[in-house]
Amino acid sequence: MPDPAPPDPLVARLRAVGCVFAEEEAAEIRRVVGQDEQRAEPIVTARAAGIPLEHALGVALFAGVEVEVGPGVFVPRTRAEILVDAAVAARPDAHVIVDLGTGSGSIAAAVKTRLPRADVYGVDLDPMALTYAIRNAARHDFHVHEGDWWDALPHELRGRVDLAVAYLPHVPTARLADIPGDYRAQEPNLSIAGGPDGLDPLREVLADLDAWLAPDGVLVTLVAEEQLGTATNVCDGKRVTLVVG
Ligand SMILES: C[S@@+](CC[C@H](N)C(=O)[O-])C[C@H]1O[C@@H](n2cnc3c(N)ncnc32)[C@H](O)[C@@H]1O
Repeated sequence: MPDPAPPDPLVARLRAVGCVFAEEEAAEIRRVVGQDEQRAEPIVTARAAGIPLEHALGVALFAGVEVEVGPGVFVPRTRAEILVDAAVAARPDAHVIVDLGTGSGSIAAAVKTRLPRADVYGVDLDPMALTYAIRNAARHDFHVHEGDWWDALPHELRGRVDLAVAYLPHVPTARLADIPGDYRAQEPNLSIAGGPDGLDPLREVLADLDAWLAPDGVLVTLVAEEQLGTATNVCDGKRVTLVVG
């Protein structure tokens, strides 16, 4: 029998500072910094201090696309990758695509990568998110606008949006405390808080939906399982695809 592989020291150090998914984190650290242990060390130190891995690395891998992230910006969530799949499947022919609440621009970047001929616009209200969205827009070829939901967009897009995709803040007020501490300490309330039932941002977006969508346009957005019933009622009669994630 061959000797078992020696334990990976990076995995051991991550586990020692409390990282539950130490193997996965070590693989992602090595993807970004290679085998250089000196470059890995400050990342382990940051993890020990409760900094999310993506913020410590300065990049996140989302739906196969790498985007820059950092302190104060929402960390792209793997659970939102199904939103990209659903949006692209809903309108593979879309010419004008909007990512409402783009954050770092991860969804805009992933959608643009899948539908390279479309014009993709990301909007956000948070100046910190926008600093990253602008960098990622340059890297992945989409547009970024600052402002409140649809109001951020160039006026000439009114009535021309084929596909709107939105990972909206949707955590109900009473559930904010359940968010993992690493993320909660680093991400602004604006990126997660959805009001009493978590659906206030969805109601805001729906108020102007018909004015901005093209006649055959659609909004694809993500809700939690327990929100599906209420969200279905809120969206009644609107051109919305709800994705549960
Ligand atoms: C759940 S995060 C999603 C971020 C990004 N789409 C992602 O998947 O990583 C929601 C985003 O909506 C933005 N946001 C909140 N209220 C907004 C508003 N009124 N207008 C535009 N963006 C808003 C937040 O700043 C945040 O970046």
